[in-house]
Amino acid sequence: MALKAGDILIREKKKGIQKLKVETKSSKIDLVTNADKASEKSIITNIKRKFPDHGIIAEESENDFMKKMEELSHCSYIWIIDPLDGTTNFTYGLPQYSVSIGLMKVNQAKKSKNFEYFEGELVAGVVYAPELDQMFYAEKGKGAFLNRKKIATSKTKSLAMSLLATGFAYSNKEKNLPYLEAMIPHCRDLRRFGSAALDLCYVAAGNFDGYWEFGLKPWDIAAGSLIVAEAGGKVSDLNGNLLDLFGEEILCSNGKVHKEMVKVFSEI
Ligand code: IPD
Ligand code: CA
Ligand code: CA
Repeated sequence: MALKAGDILIREKKKGIQKLKVETKSSKIDLVTNADKASEKSIITNIKRKFPDHGIIAEESENDFMKKMEELSHCSYIWIIDPLDGTTNFTYGLPQYSVSIGLMKVNQAKKSKNFEYFEGELVAGVVYAPELDQMFYAEKGKGAFLNRKKIATSKTKSLAMSLLATGFAYSNKEKNLPYLEAMIPHCRDLRRFGSAALDLCYVAAGNFDGYWEFGLKPWDIAAGSLIVAEAGGKVSDLNGNLLDLFGEEILCSNGKVHKEMVKVFSEI
């Protein structure tokens, strides 16, 4: 499924980035292309054929969460899809982009505030970066893998020795500025690669020691957060509390520098 979607992205890119049909979404910097749409169509078609009873949350499809959550609360499994994470990189000819597919098992249908119409657990996730030839995947309780090799988070013990990553959402970019300013003096260095799903996988594989971002959607982090957890890392919100997939923020690390990161943020 992810392989096929990745092939579609490569095929569209090979036609030449000048040929991409680039449109804007929530704002003039939030891009979508025909490649995003073709990748999503292929993934959804595949899921519907194999698992007709499963629910789907996909970035480029209708995403009125309130309506959708009610409909999804009746499903035992929900697929959470970002057909092209890193669209900006893709349209600028950069290779850091991915397909992200997470699978959530719904444990209990529940109606409460906001989007919490169900409680579930992520049971499988795949993040595929076709141009980088990197296929990250994990199944709950079975570890995390990159191209069939088991991966683990880094052993870095202190924030001062840590290479971190972050990102800036399309709306309210400024929200991250105080966090960035607070963190930079405390860490070794920081990267902004442009694909949240890949950022998470690079924490899982030990390339980054930690990562945080605001304004994220469930499709940005569903697969990657399971991959980090299965690689031995820690995933939470910015306060170090349980991650809410719909909470629009994430902090993840190798586990060893997590407390230090939370402390820096708590002092803002
Ligand atoms: C974006 C990327 C980016 C992150 C943004 C996301 P998209 O996803 O993951 O790294 O900083 O917050 O929206 O739009 O390329 O799928
Ligand atoms: Ca995304
Ligand atoms: Ca996307």
